Amino acid sequence: MGKDTHIIRNSSCYGLKDVKNDSIDALITDPPYGISFQNNHWDKNLPDSQIWKDTLSVLKPGGFGLVFTSIKLMHRIMVHLEDSGLMIKDVLFWSFLNGMPKSRNLAIDIDKELGAESQMAGVYQYVQGYKKGGANSYKSAGIKFRYEPTSKLGQRFKGAGLSLKPAYEPIIMIQKPLEDGLSVAQNMIKYGTGALNIEESRIPYEKGESKVGHNPHPKGRVPSNIIRTQKFEDGYDKFFLVPKVRQGKDKFNHHPTLKPVELMEHLVKLVSFGEQTILDPFMGSGSTGVAATNCNRKFIGYELDKGYFDIANTRLKEGLTTNRTTTNKRKNKWQRKEMH
Ligand SMILES: C[S@@+](CC[C@H](N)C(=O)[O-])C[C@H]1O[C@@H](n2cnc3c(N)ncnc32)[C@H](O)[C@@H]1O
Repeated sequence: MGKDTHIIRNSSCYGLKDVKNDSIDALITDPPYGISFQNNHWDKNLPDSQIWKDTLSVLKPGGFGLVFTSIKLMHRIMVHLEDSGLMIKDVLFWSFLNGMPKSRNLAIDIDKELGAESQMAGVYQYVQGYKKGGANSYKSAGIKFRYEPTSKLGQRFKGAGLSLKPAYEPIIMIQKPLEDGLSVAQNMIKYGTGALNIEESRIPYEKGESKVGHNPHPKGRVPSNIIRTQKFEDGYDKFFLVPKVRQGKDKFNHHPTLKPVELMEHLVKLVSFGEQTILDPFMGSGSTGVAATNCNRKFIGYELDKGYFDIANTRLKEGLTTNRTTTNKRKNKWQRKEMH
């Protein structure tokens, strides 16, 4: 690989073809969660540990990584990461208020089971994520009826459900061990890796914030392991704040698990320093790559699906600095290369 490039491949990441051992400064990736999200075939299984072994080989000693995951299967992916030789350093919580509860009304199921007819009690005004049905149906108008249980048992279990409203996504922070026998400083001198970039990822103080400890840093607070999407009314915000991307907001980028560029930029700054190289083996529509180039880092990405690869290619090639097609074209100083 030449100097000053970003390289993206429309192929499986397994083997990390053409990436040299000990050449990557940081990993940032949002792999399949293994939960068949919205029935997407690529999300059916968790990646197996081979890709994390490949990652260990290409990361420089002391290099950090961030791996998005799901609440239900984070334990498995953590075991895979650890068994591959990577160290678990932290778990960041990306918390939000607009998660969609997937619970169901068990009381109505009980009515059905007992042959009782539940009573229609009105309609839901706005049903987020409710898919409209065929023409001439209530569903076509996006209307969903609300029912009350009528059987005795149904009434006893009124309101019983199966799950909580999801309000965070975990992001596992990993690190490749330092080179044997080196201190952190010695490792940093030799490889440029081994530490987090706290300086560049500090959270600026709010305007008017009067007192922040005894020695406030001019650039703000040390970033915490909580990242939020909304501001809570609890005084000054002490966390990095970034909203979720609304699905379907942009026809050009329809990736179902699109991550906000601002979030990825914060993560890029946290685990790497200027002009270093970031790897994303599961780049999807390329949000990590856009963030990396926005922050003057180099990028290497893999994506199996041609459609998503093409979106990533367009975003990187045209220097789009956000998730959208329309705004902020960047003058990209890095030379570009696509490979199939
Ligand atoms: C969760 S998505 C990443 C979305 C991305 N963060 C974005 O903002 O667009 C994971 C991606 O991994 C891709 N993928 C799955 N298996 C792969 C493999 N073996 N090699 C490369 N990409 C793969 C899927 O096609 C999917 O687009």
